[in-house]
Amino acid sequence: MSLPVEPTRIGSVETVRVPLGARAYDIRIGADLLDTAGEAIAPLLRRPRVAILTEERVAALHLDRLTAALDGAGIESAALALPAGEGTKGWPGLERAVEWLIAREVARDDLVIAFGGGVIGDLGGFAAAVLRRGVGFVQIPTTLLAQVDSSVGGKTGINSGQGKNLIGAFHQPRLVLADIALLGTLPPRDLLAGYGEVVKYGLLGDAGFFGWLEANGPALAAGDGAARAHAVRRSCEMKAEIVARDETEQGDRALLNLGHTFGHALEAATGYSDRLLHGEGVAIGCLLAFTLSARLGLCPQEAPSRVAAHLERMGMKRDLADIPGELPDAEALVALMGQDKKVRDGRIAFILARDIGAAFVSRDVDLADVRGLLAEALARRR
Ligand code: GLY
Repeated sequence: MSLPVEPTRIGSVETVRVPLGARAYDIRIGADLLDTAGEAIAPLLRRPRVAILTEERVAALHLDRLTAALDGAGIESAALALPAGEGTKGWPGLERAVEWLIAREVARDDLVIAFGGGVIGDLGGFAAAVLRRGVGFVQIPTTLLAQVDSSVGGKTGINSGQGKNLIGAFHQPRLVLADIALLGTLPPRDLLAGYGEVVKYGLLGDAGFFGWLEANGPALAAGDGAARAHAVRRSCEMKAEIVARDETEQGDRALLNLGHTFGHALEAATGYSDRLLHGEGVAIGCLLAFTLSARLGLCPQEAPSRVAAHLERMGMKRDLADIPGELPDAEALVALMGQDKKVRDGRIAFILARDIGAAFVSRDVDLADVRGLLAEALARRR
C-alpha cells in the first residue's frame, strides 16, 4: 500500500513528512535553515545541550554558524570534527565518535547532531544507534547526496574491510534539516555526483521528474536555488514514500538501489577512492542497468539512450571508459557484486526497468548477460 506524502509549503521552507508512526519525522528543505537550526531542534530536547559530530572541511566552513544558531536558542554545544573522507567510516572512526560522546556524558534522552555529508550521517547515526542502546539524532546534511539520500530513511553504519556498509543499524533521525544554501560551497564534482542520486529517483519511479531534470538539470548544476530546492524536495518525497512502505528493505526499498549493484562493484574495484565517487558509480550503474534491461528486451532501447544523453549533457561520468586507471576484468567485477549485502541465497539483486520511471527488482538475471555487458564496456576503455 502506498501512503501519500504531501509536501507542506511554509514560506520558503518546505516540509516532507516521513510517516513512520511513532518514529515519524520531518525533512525541512530551504535556504539558510542552518541559521534557525536552534529553534528547530529546541523542541526535541529534554535539556538544552547537544553533541555535534562533523568533519573537518564542513567544520571549517559552517560550524560557527551552526553553534551560533544553537547558542541563540540557548542550546549549549560541543563538536567533534573527524577527518573528511570514506576512510573515517570504519571501526576506528566509530570508536572515536562513541568514546567522545560518552566522555561528553551524552545521555539517553539527549540528541546528537550529524553535520556533514554521507560519511558523517551514516557514522553519526550509527554512533547514536549504539550509544546507550540508542539515543536520538538530527541530520543536517551538507552535500546534495546526503540531502536526497543518505540522511533520510534511517540506514546508518560503517564499512567493513570486507565491504561497504556491512555493519550498521536502522535508526531513524528525529529531524532532517536540508539547507540548500550549503550546496553553494560544494566542489562541482561532488554536486554532480550527488545529482547521480537525484537522477536515480526519476529513473526508478517518476518519468515526469526525469523529464523535469532533462529540462532543469543544467540550471540546477549552475546554482539555481529554486531548481535545487525542487529536486531535493521531490527526491525526499519519493524516498519518504518508499521508506514508509518498506522501512527495513524487505521489498520495494530495494528500488532505491537502482544503479548500486554495478556502482558498488566499481567503487570496490577503484578502492573507494577519488577515482570514482559514490554518486558517479550510481550514475554509471543506472545507465548499465537500463542498458541491461534493453538488452534483455525488458525496456525500449530509447530509454538507455535518453539516460546516456542526459548524463552526457550534465558533464557526468556515464561509462566505464570515464573511470581513470586500471579496472579488473568482467569476471572480477561480477565477483565484487557477490560481496554486496543485497545478495540473498546466492542470487544477486538487480534493479531493472521496464521504462524510465518504472524500475523493478529482479533476482533472475543470468550473470553471463552481466559479464557480457561489462566486457563490452571494458573494451570501450581500450
Ligand atoms: N540508499 C538506499 C536506501 O536508503 O535504502
